[in-house]
Amino acid sequence: MFKAYGILPVNESVYWIGANDRETDKFEGLWDIPLGVAYNSYFVDDERTALVDTVKSSFMDDFLYRLNLLLDGRRLDYVIVNHMEPDHSGSLGMIRRLYPGVKYVGNAKTLEMLKNFFGIADDTVEIKEGETLDLGRHKLTFATAPMVHWPESMATYDVTDRVLFSNDIFGGFGALEGGIFDDEANHDWAIYEMMRYYVNIVGRFAAPALKALAKVRGLDVAMICPSHGPIWRSDPSHVMGLYEKWSRQETEEGVVVVYGSMYGNTKIASDVIARALSESGVKKVSVYDISRSNMSYVTTDIWKYAGLILSSCTYNMELYPPMASLLRLLENKMMKGRKIGLCGSYSWSSAALREMTEFVNRSKGGWTPVDPSVEFKSFPTADDLALCASLGKNMAEAVSGM
Ligand code: FEO
Repeated sequence: MFKAYGILPVNESVYWIGANDRETDKFEGLWDIPLGVAYNSYFVDDERTALVDTVKSSFMDDFLYRLNLLLDGRRLDYVIVNHMEPDHSGSLGMIRRLYPGVKYVGNAKTLEMLKNFFGIADDTVEIKEGETLDLGRHKLTFATAPMVHWPESMATYDVTDRVLFSNDIFGGFGALEGGIFDDEANHDWAIYEMMRYYVNIVGRFAAPALKALAKVRGLDVAMICPSHGPIWRSDPSHVMGLYEKWSRQETEEGVVVVYGSMYGNTKIASDVIARALSESGVKKVSVYDISRSNMSYVTTDIWKYAGLILSSCTYNMELYPPMASLLRLLENKMMKGRKIGLCGSYSWSSAALREMTEFVNRSKGGWTPVDPSVEFKSFPTADDLALCASLGKNMAEAVSGM
């Protein structure tokens, strides 16, 4: 049934009233979103009305207009606050002013953040794991998911229609392009953007994610309604399986080569390594110039594949700054179970290889080194390039079958 633009039925009594953001260049000010991002909010139409999450504040006016149309003079009884990051909570302050008496539903940690972000300390309903909120026909239960993505994160499950409102979990980048369900959208692209969201936003919390997944695996889920990206209804179990695979840090056979090069000499070494990988049978080789690549795409491939080659010049007696940024990010993500090969260059004071080696050592076995580490001065000699080829060949063997 068509109610108005931007009010899209999810089922007979749940409506999508989210926002498509094609105006923000960088999510969290960090991650490129060339195709935007959706902030999904859901309205549950029942004897008692409920809103599941809201939208970023810059999209609030239009969002509230559509919410008002759906309410059609009725009161808004509940707002379910699955997550307090402002991409989902941004409209809560205005909702409080427009709908006095509305009850905010969250766990103890949510309620603390409600106070800190919006000064909301009353009209709150603290729910605990497994408790039920009765809307009439719909019975909602709640599963806490600490650190997926913040400490207060949780998922809401509609027992009646078997719908899981999972918030960031199973969410992906990309504004919705007409289709709001996965079977209406470009499925492969949606999966890739879900992984890019996972790696960059949730990835550090892979272990807590596994715990949260164990909880939702115990539910009978017909449809996953995340707060970003498409609604997963064609095969929710498959989507859960992918998330489990990423959270277990399972990799595929393939190697990412990331280089930092000021004048192309380190690039030469990197290209030789990439060629050796290819000649040794690795079909999936991704090469990135770290000075020109958005980090979120690089990290996604690094998460996906079993091997990583870092190749970098030295800059002012330190590791080349863009490469240093990547290493800091990888360290934050606490990746493990992957192979790594190193190549460093310098002209008058060696630093790149030493700093990259220190990064590997700090991982305490998270990254397994593949020999030989290569270091050359200024321009790679034929002997240096032969070592690069050996590194590529050895890495190919190391990731074979992984
Ligand atoms: Fe989509 Fe953690 O916010």
